[in-house]
Amino acid sequence: MALLNTRDGYGSLTKALHWLVVALFVFQFAAANIMLRLDDGETALGLRQAAYYNWHKSIGLLALMVAVVRLLARKRGELPPWAPSLSARERAFIHRAEQVLYTAMFVMPVTGFLYVMAGGYGVNLFGVVDLPNPIGLRPTLATAAKWTHIAGAYALLAALVGHVGLVLWHTLVLRDGLLRRMLPRA
Ligand code: HEM
Ligand code: HEM
Repeated sequence: MALLNTRDGYGSLTKALHWLVVALFVFQFAAANIMLRLDDGETALGLRQAAYYNWHKSIGLLALMVAVVRLLARKRGELPPWAPSLSARERAFIHRAEQVLYTAMFVMPVTGFLYVMAGGYGVNLFGVVDLPNPIGLRPTLATAAKWTHIAGAYALLAALVGHVGLVLWHTLVLRDGLLRRMLPRA
């Protein structure tokens, strides 16, 4: 199988990065929900709230790097033709949902970063190094970035429900094997 996308289907790099981003996003939603519910001093699965914040910030920045590679790979390859079983309306819907998903892959980490830097909270990357703050304290920017981050999370969730719902509908009900297009060796 080719590394990049071809006329015959998605490339192995696209598929690997697709599922890596799925794993990273699942972690991000889980960690965010835990850290926002824990009080200072409480633990969940043996980890304190501060640890969840650190992991959420670090994995979020890692997801940004993955998104850059993913977008470059998509631009360099050739997009495969639509699955023949998709109607014109479904194609239009998938196209819009993918635009939201790609936008979220960049907007979420960037707004998260702006929020914690402009708000003065900082990033301790993977518990190893404190990142320098290139922005300085800017409360208005911090508030705007925080609310964009939260609104973005809901937009991302809505697009994901549509994206996954359509794939599952085709795969489990219509049984046209749509999911296989994104699976290894398919
Ligand atoms: C793929 C990247 C990311 C995703 C999908 C993501 C997702 C989320 C979600 C779902 C929430 C909860 C929103 C809510 O309902 O209140 C959240 C909150 C938060 N995120 Fe992220 N995030 C990402 C990256 C980042 C990064 C890179 C940082 C910082 C460097 C960050 C910092 C925060 C902080 C501080 C909060 C808590 C906001 C509050 O106090 O309400 N996030 N994130
Ligand atoms: C964070 C979660 C997800 C994101 C951000 C995401 C994003 C995307 C994007 C942007 C594409 C277009 C191809 C590309 O350029 O990479 C795509 C295609 C696809 N995704 Fe996802 N996806 C997610 C979760 C899922 C899940 C959970 C499933 C399985 C149920 C899935 C199944 C597929 C399939 C089968 C395709 C190929 C559709 C086609 O035939 O063109 N995705 N996804």
